[in-house]
Amino acid sequence: MSRTRVGVMISGRGSNLQALLDAAARPDYPAEIALVLSNVAGVQGLARAKAAGVPTAVVPHRDFADRESFEREVTARLEAAGCTLVAQAGFMRVVTPWFVAHWRDRLINIHPSLLPAFPGLHTHERALQAGVRLHGCTVHFVRDEVDQGPIIGQAAVPVLPGDHPDDLSARVLTAEHLLYPRCLTLVAAGRTRIEAERVIHDAGAAPDARLIVPGESA
Ligand code: GAR
Repeated sequence: MSRTRVGVMISGRGSNLQALLDAAARPDYPAEIALVLSNVAGVQGLARAKAAGVPTAVVPHRDFADRESFEREVTARLEAAGCTLVAQAGFMRVVTPWFVAHWRDRLINIHPSLLPAFPGLHTHERALQAGVRLHGCTVHFVRDEVDQGPIIGQAAVPVLPGDHPDDLSARVLTAEHLLYPRCLTLVAAGRTRIEAERVIHDAGAAPDARLIVPGESA
């Protein structure tokens, strides 16, 4: 089986990266993590990649005059590693229309909310503030507008009485770690297509939105 070569872009802790590395360690997984690229040196995600024996690159955005020249270097590194698909996993830079166009329909992201609710930062605080009863995470194809784009999959978790943002963040993160490898599987295996800016899954392939109840296995 030839596996899709995936580049993972990170900026920090890399717990979602770890979920992808763990999934890709299985021989039947349709994606291989070919490069982990960080815009920040010394972050935990880079150590995770090294521990998994995956090549890493650090491309500090501050070294570049503008976003696009940074992204051209990122793209050169990804392509030199043979990546044909890119997964952003806690990559905390907004990308330009140039980058989105270059990687169109080959660039996915995970966001810690049930989009289109709560794009942007501080999603858990904002969900609590809004009083929603369900919160969660979304994996989507990246488009020019931040945290928008065709949705590949979502996972929902309950908001519980007395929740602090940290409680909600931890509950959502557990869901992220389940959702992201499943969505990457579908995209890497070519089991999704985009029609009218909506993702169509092959029969039986959809990672249905599910309620992940704390303490219950997925
Ligand atoms: C995750 O919760 C991810 O969804 C979020 O950052 C965290 C990274 O954690 N991403 C965004 O907010 C992007 N807009 P991780 O480094 O442990 O995977």
